[in-house]
Amino acid sequence: MSYYIGIDLGTSAAKLLLMDEVGTIVNVVTKEYPLEFPQPGWSQQNPEDWRKAMMEGIPELLEGVDASQVAGIGSGGQMHGLVVLDENDNVIRPAILWNDGRTAAQVDYLNNEIGKDKLSEMTANIAFAGFTAPKLLWMKENEPENFAKISKIMLPKDYINYVLTGVHACDYSDASGILLLDVKNKCWSKEMMDICGVSEAQMPQLFESYDCIGTVKPELAIALGLPSGVRVAAGAGDNAAAAVGTGVVGEGGCNISLGTSGTVFISSKSFGVDANNALHAFAHADGGYHLMGVVLSAASCNKWFMDEILQTKDYAGEQALIDEAKLGRNNVFYLPYLMGERSPINDTDARATFIGMSMDTTRADFTLAVLEGVAFAIRDSVEIARSLGIEVNSSKICGGGAKSPLWKKIMANVLGVKLESPACEQGPGMGGAMLAMVACGAYESVQAACDAIVKTASVLEPDAELTALYEAQYQKFKTIYPALKSVFPVIR
Ligand code: XUL
Repeated sequence: MSYYIGIDLGTSAAKLLLMDEVGTIVNVVTKEYPLEFPQPGWSQQNPEDWRKAMMEGIPELLEGVDASQVAGIGSGGQMHGLVVLDENDNVIRPAILWNDGRTAAQVDYLNNEIGKDKLSEMTANIAFAGFTAPKLLWMKENEPENFAKISKIMLPKDYINYVLTGVHACDYSDASGILLLDVKNKCWSKEMMDICGVSEAQMPQLFESYDCIGTVKPELAIALGLPSGVRVAAGAGDNAAAAVGTGVVGEGGCNISLGTSGTVFISSKSFGVDANNALHAFAHADGGYHLMGVVLSAASCNKWFMDEILQTKDYAGEQALIDEAKLGRNNVFYLPYLMGERSPINDTDARATFIGMSMDTTRADFTLAVLEGVAFAIRDSVEIARSLGIEVNSSKICGGGAKSPLWKKIMANVLGVKLESPACEQGPGMGGAMLAMVACGAYESVQAACDAIVKTASVLEPDAELTALYEAQYQKFKTIYPALKSVFPVIR
């Protein structure tokens, strides 16, 4: 029996798992690292922290197992983060992350001066603040001395793969979120590279997610306790990897992730673009494509409200204070825009808001409003998909937030969809390990790996009465942001 290592290189932690080829999880290790917010709406992380998490995490993961059986490693990484190395392979500056909103001016330039139609023609997408290309422009304008030093451009999980193999690689799913990839034709866009002032020599070599990019360097294998010749898969962006982990590959599947970000991911065999570019049109890790809507702050809203505001770690205890009769009848509404918002409003100035409190409002009403507000924001993306004629009647669900039965119930009824929870909750890490299995030849395709490994643990049907109550609440929610849109830039 061979073993595979899956790495979920997340925003709050790296979650590593060891899995055998029939999908049994043998071990799991989590290594947390800090996140810096140097200015409101900015978000950075030190790639050295990711390297350390991997270097410490892999030996721990292998404790007590026959490490000589490890055949492959695959990662699902937080997307869009700009990692830049100089000619000596030193990291030039902290990585600017997917939820960083500093690039409003560059996004404006790309969308309005280069033009959305042109961008969409070149890349299948328009600019959003978290995407990587606006960050390159920001660096060029604000840190010219750093920009001049760039020898290699890569994404977070590609840095880990580079440390492991010495190969400067990126897969198509993650590369799609750079905004320099011609997604339809799966190649770098010369015009976009020119616009951003970078050359193909600085860009990673492109692979399918399930391709093997190389093997772990011999000296590193010894340090990590790995046998020689362990193959490294190109891996995927965390959402594509999570979709593999929940079996959402091929045509028409839907996966909702309730992690730090909240995403709605719709897989497709063929390339397609939302004419308004409200949903991202990206490549998938199975060789196909997907459409995706992204809520920047999802489970992070609940974490923020619990940790920072209520100052508690007892999330379940706080949710237990919520009277179920209050579901769909809360007078308090919450906009979850702690880091601005991506889909569909594309507004870096937007901020989180509680509205509707009265003297009888309770602590539990606030907790409920946070869970509901995130669900309403995710529904905004589901509605865009529905407006494109895509039926969203059932979905897989994964991510830390999906561990809360209450939040899952709210999600099913706000969205009006049946939610299936996979038996294994390790979405991106599991997907990463499965991509490694394909890279090692254990399965002939990502679909075959999903068919053999992914199992459903439970199914939650929406309730007609609660769905109707939430429909009315969603209509109210929809009026709040348009009314406040012009206020946000004023109160910045
Ligand atoms: C996707 C996105 C987030 C991050 C989270 O476009 O920005 O979901 O990938 O890690």
